[in-house]
Amino acid sequence: MQATPDLFVIAIDGPAGAGKSTIGRALASRLGLQYLDTGAMYRAVTVAALRAAVPVEAEESVADLARRVNLEVSDRGVFVDGFDATVQVRSDEVNRAVSTVAANPAVRAEMVDRQRAWARERSGGVLEGRDIGSVVFPEAALKVYLTASARERAVRRAMETGGDVDEIAVSIETRDRKDRERADSPLTEATGAVVVDTTGRSVEDVLDQLLALLEGRR
Ligand code: DC
Repeated sequence: MQATPDLFVIAIDGPAGAGKSTIGRALASRLGLQYLDTGAMYRAVTVAALRAAVPVEAEESVADLARRVNLEVSDRGVFVDGFDATVQVRSDEVNRAVSTVAANPAVRAEMVDRQRAWARERSGGVLEGRDIGSVVFPEAALKVYLTASARERAVRRAMETGGDVDEIAVSIETRDRKDRERADSPLTEATGAVVVDTTGRSVEDVLDQLLALLEGRR
């Protein structure tokens, strides 16, 4: 299934802790659009594998699960075949396993189809992830690559989760490396993406910049 250029899509990509969710949600609310956290979809497939006791390395079996699983990622939370996995998707166990699931090309193909269908049903939206501007919606109205210093990204995550900053720094660095080095749809700055460094900046400040960018393109 191909991406369609006639949708109003805003693509937000970048490494963990760069502010994608906060900015994505705020931007969607300001523009009256819906928001999709695509990372939560890969996390939900990981939960499905863990619950079915399928090793995340078992590519075929995990791909099969990904094609069959009923996923809901919305304001209500994350549901995997009706099971409320909202808390579990953020667990250390899932943090450790999710980049293996996200590197599985057949899982990615299935998730990309679902993400495009989600946007088509809504005539667009704000989608946040790693490959939205490069693969899912290369024709997006605005493509943003959000980043921040490694330290600030770890501190933000620690504030969200109450964990140890140094441990979190290692965990997100490991995940980012896997996301950047995988063969299929690695984390990268999409062609035409605006790179926005959020280090030391407020949400409002970043939001104003993105809204001005969007205004300039209209
Ligand atoms: O954004 P996050 O930390 O919840 O993402 C979880 C994992 O999924 C992370 O390893 C990156 C990967 N991911 C991806 O490969 N492609 C996306 N569009 C979104 C997330």
